[in-house]
Amino acid sequence: MSKTLKIALLGYGKMGKTIEEIAVEKGHKIVFHATVDTQDYSDLSGADVAIEFSHPEAGFGNVQRCIEMGIPVVSGTTGWMDKMESAKTLCEEKQGAFFYASNFSVGVNLFFALNERLSQLMSRFPTYQAEMLEVHHTQKKDAPSGTAITLAEGIAKHHEHYTGWSLSRNSAANEVFIDVERVDPTPGTHKITWQSVIDTIEIQHIAHSRTGFATGALMAAEWLVGKSGCFTMRDLLQL
Ligand SMILES: NC(=O)c1ccc[n+]([C@@H]2O[C@H](COP(=O)([O-])OP(=O)(O)OC[C@H]3O[C@@H](n4cnc5c(N)ncnc54)[C@H](O)[C@@H]3O)[C@@H](O)[C@H]2O)c1
Repeated sequence: MSKTLKIALLGYGKMGKTIEEIAVEKGHKIVFHATVDTQDYSDLSGADVAIEFSHPEAGFGNVQRCIEMGIPVVSGTTGWMDKMESAKTLCEEKQGAFFYASNFSVGVNLFFALNERLSQLMSRFPTYQAEMLEVHHTQKKDAPSGTAITLAEGIAKHHEHYTGWSLSRNSAANEVFIDVERVDPTPGTHKITWQSVIDTIEIQHIAHSRTGFATGALMAAEWLVGKSGCFTMRDLLQL
């Protein structure tokens, strides 16, 4: 087993609770919990690492607080990408340790790599058009999911024709249409379809539970302690 860690959980909802279960099973100690009602963060200072799964409006503030307190922080909160560059700059200035993933599942990160490779192949065959389906439970606050955005960016990075994404089917031809559905109790489904008049190629990832995200976040926390810099799953999984 890896070293026993004192872990702070910032956000104690579905993800925070699943991470706690797995962390305790692995012998780690949860030393601090924060929810939307938490006022006093002084006990956060005793943690070796913080794991942050909260709310789009709280993600940046939580990361900032940890970096300023010198606590390595793993964040999985989606919907605050507009502040990501500020978080990375702060991390560099303070020589902190910050790990972000829009999706902590090992399988999804393999899926990201597969998506990019497929997009690279498809770039030479413009008769195929891409679109995406993203399905999550009805309590999800942001749409499209952070994972869907990462997938769309992966397509745009490797395809000559695509430059971005849109939630409208009547989007510009160079934007990948993302069809968002909210259906309980879906933990997270992402399907990418490349369609031509002749045939269709589809790749799909279906999460069966939240455990994959929680296991990945904990793996990231164990890996991050003792490092400095800004990291993603590509660093952890060496993809
Ligand atoms: N990156 C991933 O792999 C991944 C996986 C699942 C969920 N998520 C994201 O994680 C986040 C949380 O998901 P969840 O399903 O646990 O949500 P949830 O609604 O079950 O729980 C949210 C928690 O955050 C707390 N919170 C809200 N505002 C806060 C604040 N200002 N400060 C501290 N805590 C605050 C709430 O009290 C609650 O405990 C969402 O953004 C979701 O999209 C990411």
